[in-house]
Amino acid sequence: MDRQTELALIDELLALKASMSAFLEDSTTNPADHYASPGRFEAEQTKLFRQLPIAAAHISELPKEGSFVRQDVGGLPILITRDKSGAVHAFLNACRHRGTRLVEEMSGCKHRFSCPYHAWTYASTGELIGAPHFDEGFPHLDKADLGLQRLPCAVQFGFVWVSLSKDNALTNDQWFEGIADNLDALDLPKMRIAAKDKVIRHANWKTLVEGGIEAYHFRVVHRKTIGPHFENNLSSYRSFGPHMRAVLPRTSMATLTEAARDTWHLRDHANILYTLFPSSQLLVMQDHIVWIRLNPLAADKSALQITTLAPTHGEQDAHWKRNHDITMTTLDEDFTIGESIQSSVAGQSTMMFGRFEGALAQFNRTVNQMVEQE
Ligand code: FES
Ligand SMILES: [Fe+2]
Repeated sequence: MDRQTELALIDELLALKASMSAFLEDSTTNPADHYASPGRFEAEQTKLFRQLPIAAAHISELPKEGSFVRQDVGGLPILITRDKSGAVHAFLNACRHRGTRLVEEMSGCKHRFSCPYHAWTYASTGELIGAPHFDEGFPHLDKADLGLQRLPCAVQFGFVWVSLSKDNALTNDQWFEGIADNLDALDLPKMRIAAKDKVIRHANWKTLVEGGIEAYHFRVVHRKTIGPHFENNLSSYRSFGPHMRAVLPRTSMATLTEAARDTWHLRDHANILYTLFPSSQLLVMQDHIVWIRLNPLAADKSALQITTLAPTHGEQDAHWKRNHDITMTTLDEDFTIGESIQSSVAGQSTMMFGRFEGALAQFNRTVNQMVEQE
């Protein structure tokens, strides 16, 4: 974000605080069955998670030739590799013979991947390079046509983006129009993974996204953790196409009224949360970034990967691990509320978003538009 935007965001939040007002829009509702219906879940998998570019790995997870990472996207197993020339590829993690999952390890370094069923063997470029008794068993087939199923993939802003849709017309440039300069400024390619956690929660993925983009709950849910350090029910947000940037000010931001403008730094006095549609969130803190990746498993079940990205130089791992644990404690408070909501959602008719929960309404407008379009 440029300096002018940074100052404008601080001005906006200080003015709201001075007038004792939240960032207000119209109140809205969202149908509760969007959080519970298996049909709706399938539609979201098809229209969002199997169509759009999804952040599947941080580039530091593929540090050298032969590095590979496994990930699930849109309910399907994905393999991301770095070949001998350094190029990054994404494939369906499935053998072309009868579909066995080719790689079981979550990550590692290999130039050849051998199927655990009948040992068809693939290079990190996806090419089929060996298959026992192939000529005898498959005389009508050509190995050159039997490489791993390749998926569109691009490296941008420090992440490997994978799309399951071969005819996805969206290039990453179009998809990130408007928010690219914000993401570039985060210097994500230069960061490293300092800590990572994976959890499964019995909550709809949208509820878990929503939990991060309003400050209405801070002083209630997080009263024993971060709540007292943040302004009560004060946040602002902007949309950039389907994506969003929410700013959640700390109480310390109020001290800036006494300080010279050229000393104002947003990250010193606020958490910035980027929601990269549909389901990655970047929680930008003073000196590090937490990447929250949501992988929907069912209408009422989601896998979450929470990764602390830290600068390559500076603090040691123990420092970042402590930070990560504090983040996890706070996020667990949100996820527990998400499970609580899920327990009653089948008996509800609507979710209500108040005037200061406009970011939730906007997020769901985007989801609904994309899922419902032909
Ligand atoms: S399914 Fe992989 S070699 Fe047969
Ligand atoms: Fe929260």
